Amino acid sequence: MTCRVVHSHIDTLLADLKTATETLTESLQSVHGGIPIAPIPKRIDTLKGIVHVLMREVERRYGIAPGSQVERKLGRIFATMTHDDLQNWSLMLLSPAANESEWLSLVECLTVHETYFDRDREQLGILDSEILPRMIERKQRSGDHTLRIWSAGCSSGEETYNLTMIALLSLKNAGFACEREDGSLTPIPGWNLSVLGTDISSQMIRIAKSGTYSTIEMGSFRNMNPALWRFFEEITGQNDVAEGERTMRITPSVSGLTRFLRHNLLEPLPEMPPFDLILCRNVLIYFQYSKKVVQEQLCSKLAFGGTLMLGATDVMTHRKKLQQHQDNGLFWYVKTEAGADRWK
Ligand SMILES: C[S@@+](CC[C@H](N)C(=O)[O-])C[C@H]1O[C@@H](n2cnc3c(N)ncnc32)[C@H](O)[C@@H]1O
Repeated sequence: MTCRVVHSHIDTLLADLKTATETLTESLQSVHGGIPIAPIPKRIDTLKGIVHVLMREVERRYGIAPGSQVERKLGRIFATMTHDDLQNWSLMLLSPAANESEWLSLVECLTVHETYFDRDREQLGILDSEILPRMIERKQRSGDHTLRIWSAGCSSGEETYNLTMIALLSLKNAGFACEREDGSLTPIPGWNLSVLGTDISSQMIRIAKSGTYSTIEMGSFRNMNPALWRFFEEITGQNDVAEGERTMRITPSVSGLTRFLRHNLLEPLPEMPPFDLILCRNVLIYFQYSKKVVQEQLCSKLAFGGTLMLGATDVMTHRKKLQQHQDNGLFWYVKTEAGADRWK
């Protein structure tokens, strides 16, 4: 097949996908209180039908709603399959015999994993200048000297390690972390810091756990404040990188306080103490009907007095027990015992 034929084939597939997702969105919009569960068909004849049913199930299981980015990704997967293979594969996936790992490999292809250190620096600046100093002061007064932080939808871990670094610096500014001889920071005895990163993608969690990032095209480091280089060590090998590229690993003083877990935001987290700070940024933009469920789950995992921060463009729909704060157009939410009776 020539390139032109392949392109026109993909164009046709994409046009079909677009119509199918529009139909799906319309049908979902007509349903109140969540995503409809329809019986699984015995046969799906058209590409439209396949996309419709698969996307409905993806949204029900993982929250990711149909959208142009998802359509393009599905289009690329489907373009490599014959109609019969596609039909058989979809029916296998929709059958009760399909296991979770088969769905997860589809979701792996549909999710967007874009992330980098110091992403949306203004938001992190508020953590550094306002939220964490006040939180540490409150914790000092209360005698609870542990900071628990969750980066929900952490992709390859840059945001999670970023939080560990910022929290260590805040503890140091408050006099509750000290500098060792090798320049690394550690909480002083009696203070604890624990940072958790979770994501649906096993591949991303694997990268996050390795804590190793390449400087290629400055990807992960494109926006990073140079002051944070102190939290990395270079492990560039002789043969494994292109000229000028460096491989950097998070230092043990930071990685030792940071852990990762594969987790679907639509499911409960394993039993663990509530968090003082939760970030869930640039995840819910891909959700539609499940946004509220996820926001409720995040709120339920927040300690009283704890702070929740969403992505800069995310809208909070779940406001029970949360007090909204704002600075320069950036929002964050504090969990109150009394509920959201005072908004500013
Ligand atoms: C664009 S990245 C955002 C990474 C990071 N929070 C940031 O702002 O840089 C979105 C991440 O959300 C994850 N994600 C999507 N649906 C999810 C779900 N149902 N449960 C957990 N993570 C999910 C994706 O795998 C992806 O890594």
